[in-house]
Amino acid sequence: MVSKLFDLDGRVALVTGAAQGLGRGYAQALASAGALAICMDRDQPEETVALIRDAGGKAEPCQVDISRPAGVQAAIDGIVSNYGRLDILVNNAGTEIEKNFLEYSEQEYDTIMGTNLRGLFFASQAAARYMAKQRSGKIINQGSLGSQIGLAGSTVYCATKGGVLLFTKALAIEMAPFNVQVNAIGPGYFRTSMTEPFFQDPEHRQWIENRIPAGRVGTNDDLAGTVVFMASPASDYITGQIIYVDGGWLAS
Ligand SMILES: NC(=O)c1ccc[n+]([C@@H]2O[C@H](COP(=O)([O-])OP(=O)(O)OC[C@H]3O[C@@H](n4cnc5c(N)ncnc54)[C@H](O)[C@@H]3O)[C@@H](O)[C@H]2O)c1
Repeated sequence: MVSKLFDLDGRVALVTGAAQGLGRGYAQALASAGALAICMDRDQPEETVALIRDAGGKAEPCQVDISRPAGVQAAIDGIVSNYGRLDILVNNAGTEIEKNFLEYSEQEYDTIMGTNLRGLFFASQAAARYMAKQRSGKIINQGSLGSQIGLAGSTVYCATKGGVLLFTKALAIEMAPFNVQVNAIGPGYFRTSMTEPFFQDPEHRQWIENRIPAGRVGTNDDLAGTVVFMASPASDYITGQIIYVDGGWLAS
C-alpha cells in the first residue's frame, strides 16, 4: 500500500538539464520509480537516456535550450501529442558564472537569468497549461542554498534561486485548485561540472567541506528520494514548499 504512494508507473516526466549532473540523477530516479523520463537539455542527452534504458527504464531525448520559451512550448506540445499527457516537470536546468558583483556584464546577467529564472518560468507555464486541463500535475523547481542565504561571487545566481523559491510559492497557490502541486528542492553542494571549479580550488573546497555537518558533499542518490516523493501521490497535499537536501548546511 505504502509503496503505491511512490509509484510513478505510467507517468510522463520532463526533466530539464538532464544531460549530466543533478538532472541526470533526477531523470534516473523518476525512471526507476516507473515514469517515462524525457531528458531535455541544450546538449545531447543521449548518454542519460542510454543509462536509463540499460537499467530497464523508459527514457527519450529532447534537445532544447530552455532559455528559448518557444522551443520549450513546441517540445511540450509534442510530448502531449505523443503521449497524451505530461505529469511531472522537473525544472533543473541552470547555469552559473561566478564573479565579483562589480564585474558582471549585462550579457552575463541575461545568460544566468535567462535559464535559471526566465526559462524556468516559461517552461512551467507551458507545462501548467496542460496540467491544469488534466487536473493533475507536479512541478518541481531546482532551488539552491542560494534560495535561502547569500553566497559571495554569486549575486545573479542567488537572485535567480531566491526568485525560484518565491515563484514556487506563488505558482503553488494559483495551481492548487487544479490539483497541481508546485514544490522545490534545495541541494547543498554536489560535485558536478558546475561546481567542479570550486572543488579544484583547495581553499574553496575546504570552505565547502568544513561547513557540511554530514561531513561529505552530496551525491545524486541523496536527491533521488526527494524528487520521487515530490513527483508522486505521496506529496499530493504538499505544495509551495522547499526541501533542502544539504547534509545539514542550513541547520548550522
Ligand atoms: N551542483 C550543485 O552543488 C548544485 C547545488 C544547488 C543547486 N544546483 C542546481 O542544480 C541544477 C543542475 O546543476 P548541476 O550542478 O547538475 O550542473 P551541470 O552543469 O552538471 O548540469 C547542468 C545541465 O543543464 C544544462 N543546461 C544549462 N543551461 C541550459 C539551457 N539553457 N537549456 C537547456 N539545458 C541547459 C547543461 O547543458 C547541463 O547538462 C542547476 O539549476 C543548479 O543551479 C546545483
